[in-house]
Amino acid sequence: MIHTIDFNGQKLQCSEDETIMDALERSKVRYDVECRSGYCGTCRCRLIEGTVDYDSHPIARFSDNDLLICIAKPTSNVVVESY
Ligand code: FES
Repeated sequence: MIHTIDFNGQKLQCSEDETIMDALERSKVRYDVECRSGYCGTCRCRLIEGTVDYDSHPIARFSDNDLLICIAKPTSNVVVESY
C-alpha cells in the first residue's frame, strides 16, 4: 500500500515496505542521518499526524510524539516535521 508523507510541507509517496528515509532519498530530499538503524537518534523528527511501524525495536530514546525516520515505515498517511 502507498501512503503520502508530508515532510516539512513537501508531499512524497512511500510504500509500507520502505522507510520514510528511503522515500526522502528517492525524492532527493536531504536529511542528516548517521546510524540508519535506530541507535543514534540523529534522524528524530516530530510525528504530527498518522502512524508508523518499526521492523526492529528502536534503541534511541524518543517521545511518543516523535519518530525515527531511518527505520519508521508508514502505516497511514503521515505528517512529519524535522526539528
Ligand atoms: S540515523 Fe540513527 S537513529 Fe536514525
